[in-house]
Amino acid sequence: MSDYSFSDRSSSFGSNEQGSPMDEDGRSTTASSLSAAPSIYSFNSERDGMALIRYIQGRAFNAQNDLYFLPADDVEFERLEKYHLVHLVSLGQLYIEPERVRRIMAPSEGEEKRVLDLGTGCGNWVAGMAQEFPHAEVVGVDLAPNTAVPLPPNARLEFDDFNLGLSHYYDSFDVVHARGVSNGVADFRQFIHEAAKCLKPGGIILIADGDHNLLNERKELQEIAFGDGGPGQSWLAREGTNALKRRGSSADERLILYEILSDCPLLEDVGEHSEFIPIGPWERGATPAEDQKRHILGILERQALIGLIKSMGPLFISEGFPSTLVNQMIDGTEKELNELTVHMYIRWRYTFGIRNGVQ
Ligand SMILES: C[S@@+](CC[C@H](N)C(=O)[O-])C[C@H]1O[C@@H](n2cnc3c(N)ncnc32)[C@H](O)[C@@H]1O
Repeated sequence: MSDYSFSDRSSSFGSNEQGSPMDEDGRSTTASSLSAAPSIYSFNSERDGMALIRYIQGRAFNAQNDLYFLPADDVEFERLEKYHLVHLVSLGQLYIEPERVRRIMAPSEGEEKRVLDLGTGCGNWVAGMAQEFPHAEVVGVDLAPNTAVPLPPNARLEFDDFNLGLSHYYDSFDVVHARGVSNGVADFRQFIHEAAKCLKPGGIILIADGDHNLLNERKELQEIAFGDGGPGQSWLAREGTNALKRRGSSADERLILYEILSDCPLLEDVGEHSEFIPIGPWERGATPAEDQKRHILGILERQALIGLIKSMGPLFISEGFPSTLVNQMIDGTEKELNELTVHMYIRWRYTFGIRNGVQ
């Protein structure tokens, strides 16, 4: 049995004190002895799995939220793990603005440092932050997090839908992070506002997302494949995340993350950093070390995006795409990326902002 928790929307963070209730297996329903967690319910994989997960065309999906239509199974968690490595290799660390983050997270007498990861997925970022800041409590929230990931004792996961509001977390965290979650965000401005409210004054918000508009090697919009495809055209770029966008997610807002953070009245000192990641090992670096880095990034990004287009199969089918076309997109993507017939980049935007004193 796994020990994970559901957030309790009716209680505020830190309000769970004596006599924590027990679940039917006799386990405390608080998820962490380090913290006063807001949880009222512990996840039991045998008991709860079927209520939280549904199966569509052989893949497991979260059963709570129809907007986020990518799987939550081992295959997808492996893909997210590769993506985690893309960020690690690309940034050289878990986050941008390292000096600010470390200053904010430095131990401080009488204050517990806390980190919140919204849409945590495979849990690697949470595990990494908990290791790097052993004095801090690190919480990962997801519709269906990876309950198999081994976590340090100062980290825990919660099952929750961040679109339903985060009032139980307000004013509690020093760092709030969300990476690659835009497909599950109903309203990006509202999401940023809620995430910012979870910060203590002076805390930092870190929001990262990859553009769905892929770029060619000149960093211009990539031409997409139609019919039988053609030279220089891409199957991967054809649908990308358009299908997710059609479902109502905030995919386009990821392109204006910086503007959205700048417009949020709760944030100041907003900034953005971009990385152009090659899809496949086609790009050369100026030095042998840079060359190796671009090579590794290209291979990881290729694996992650081939995995993504496969993970999107059930979504394409549910949208009425004929299975022959879905297979053509999947096969075409694998072929163009494995044979490097198309040289593309994906742009990742990493934004940040500091919580001001505005209530
Ligand atoms: C593409 S994954 C990114 C995972 C992780 N942040 C990372 O960078 O590896 C998006 C994650 O966000 C979660 N998610 C999407 N919409 C959500 C929502 N409304 N509430 C909570 N989690 C959500 C999904 O379940 C999925 O695990």
